[in-house]
Amino acid sequence: MIHDFAVTENYVIFPLMPLTADIDQIKSGGRHFQWQPGLDQLFGVLPRNGEAADVRWFTAPNGFQGHTLNAFDDGRGRIYVDMPVTSGNIFYFFPQADGRVPLPETLQMTRWTFDMNKTGNSLEASPLTDFMCEFPRGDDRYMGKPYRHGFVIGFDPTRPYDFEKLGPPRPSNS
Ligand SMILES: [Fe+2]
Repeated sequence: MIHDFAVTENYVIFPLMPLTADIDQIKSGGRHFQWQPGLDQLFGVLPRNGEAADVRWFTAPNGFQGHTLNAFDDGRGRIYVDMPVTSGNIFYFFPQADGRVPLPETLQMTRWTFDMNKTGNSLEASPLTDFMCEFPRGDDRYMGKPYRHGFVIGFDPTRPYDFEKLGPPRPSNS
């Protein structure tokens, strides 16, 4: 599944999370997507003036990518994409085959660094926050360019949670 993407001066980056669609499962009335705990995250990197054959694929360990805050490149093949990433599956309504949902435990703003000058399909991930956050927003004047400020909704799990009003925060695996 792709949920969001990122644009820089010279590239478009498509993050694919390990939620897959199986046509037979859909035909038999099953859920559209199924979480795949054994699959990597995928990132397709397309040059802005390229076509489908020019997409280069990068992988990262199983996880769930959130919304893009911003992305930029240095004009020399290094690309930076900033987005929250968690080790679990936030879309609990699309469980894995055995019905389980790996709980999202981190959800940190993460900077992915792609080096188009290197061979291979690995990329670097470094955390930009030490707290849980999502729904980032940047300054439109800096979209696709180097920038200094971004805004997020932060989660503080130590604060009280109104179960009566909001219901359970996530489904149980039992
Ligand atoms: Fe969304």
